[in-house]
Order: sequence, then C-alpha cells, then structure tokens
Amino acid sequence: MDTQIRGKAVGFVLFAAMIFLSIYFQRQQAQTDAEQAAAGQVAAEQQAESGAGQQLGSDAGQQAGSDAGQQLGSDARQQAGNSVGQQADMEKKIALTFDDGPHPVYTKLLLDGLRERGVKATFFVVGENIPGREDIIRQMAQDGHLIGNHTYDHCDISSLSAEEACRELKKTSDLVEQITGNATAYVRPPFGKWDDALDCRTSMIAVKWTVDPMDWTTKNTSQVVAKVLEAAAENDIILLHDYYESSVKAALEIVDRLQAEGFTFVTVEELLLE
Ligand code: NI
Repeated sequence: MDTQIRGKAVGFVLFAAMIFLSIYFQRQQAQTDAEQAAAGQVAAEQQAESGAGQQLGSDAGQQAGSDAGQQLGSDARQQAGNSVGQQADMEKKIALTFDDGPHPVYTKLLLDGLRERGVKATFFVVGENIPGREDIIRQMAQDGHLIGNHTYDHCDISSLSAEEACRELKKTSDLVEQITGNATAYVRPPFGKWDDALDCRTSMIAVKWTVDPMDWTTKNTSQVVAKVLEAAAENDIILLHDYYESSVKAALEIVDRLQAEGFTFVTVEELLLE
C-alpha cells in the first residue's frame, strides 16, 4: 500500500509539477509573445519615427536647398544691382542750363550743335521772347531738352506779391504748353531770387546753379570755357545764356571737352531725380 500511495503521491507531484511547469511555460511564452509583440510595436514605431525623421530631414534638406537657391537668387540680384549701380556710377552726369532765350539766331545754332553731339540740356525761357519764335520752342521739345520757366519779362519775382509772381510764371508756362503740350515744372528765378513763401511754389521747382562763369559780363568764349572747365565736376549745374554768340560757342566747346573726359550731359530733371 505504501508503495502504491507513494507511487500515487509521486505521480501526483509529478503531475502537479508538469501542470505547474506547463502553466509556467505557457505564461513565459505568453510573456515572451507579449514582449516580442511589444518590441515589434516599438520597432515599428521606431521605424515610423525614423521614416518621419527622414521625411523631416528631407524637408529640411529641401528647405536648405531652397534657401540656398533663394540666397543664390538674392546674390545674383544683388550682383546685378551692383553691376547696374556701378554702371550708373561710372556715368558722370552734368547739366547745361541756358537762361533768357529763345534768341532767334543763337538758340537755333545751339540746338543744332547739341543735336550733333547727342546732348540734352535745359532751357529756362523768358515768356516775352517766345512770340514769333515758337518753332524754336517746338524744336527744343522735339530734341528732348527740358524747357523751364524764367518768368515772362525777366522780373525779380521775390519783389512781387505772390499773386503777381504766379501770374508771371503762369503766362510763360501757358505759352510753352500751347506749343509743346507740356506746362513748365521747373523755374529759374531771375537774379536767383526765389521767395519760398510763393503760393505757386508747390507746383514749381526752383533750380539754381553750381557753376557760373558770368558769361554775360565777359562775352569772351575762351574765358567762359576756361572758367567752366576749371570748376566742372560730377552733378554740377552750369549756368550759361543762349542770348550771346560767345556763350553758344563756349557751350559747344565745353560739351566737346567734358564729353572727352567721360561726362554725360543730362537735363536738370534727370540730375535732380538721382
Ligand atoms: Ni536771366
């Protein structure tokens, strides 16, 4: 019996042990499966993240590339801008201005000479000199010169009332507009006297000068040429009068000499707009 009982007991213990082990191993297996599954999940997630990372990297790369492209574009634009700027810098601009015309003979001579040389100038005309010389004003406009206002009868407008001064300027501007289609926007006040309080100042820009050889006092061509060449620099506004033959001859000589030095003659408007 003992042996039987012992045998049964051993059998039971073995059976129990097997069940225990079986359960244990099943659990272990389940745990392993779960762990593996979890690990798989993590791996999948890692992969997903890595993919996102690559995507992010790719975006960043693209962005960087794009930025670089934009930078390059910007550099190219800057370089193009510099090149244009340098070209503009290389062009030494200077302006010739002529007061008191139009003269029936000398202004025509001057216009012919300027046209031959491809020069644009500015003419501050006196209104009372225009009637009968409309063709000269028309030629100025056709040749691309700027026509400015030097009052109607060459008066000191600063000594007039604002109303009278404006009438002086308007009379000349109207004459020019009837001939060319454009009113005058720039004024050179006779004797350089401009009253800033003038009511009409808002529609007219006063233009003075930086080089004055006093051509009307000497009427000597070579002296006028020498004085201008001595003083002339970039962006200067030279004052001459197209009412004297000596001044017209001087003007054309000045053009030849300064063009040879690399100057480009422009209208006062072009100089002031810089
Ligand atoms: Ni004058």
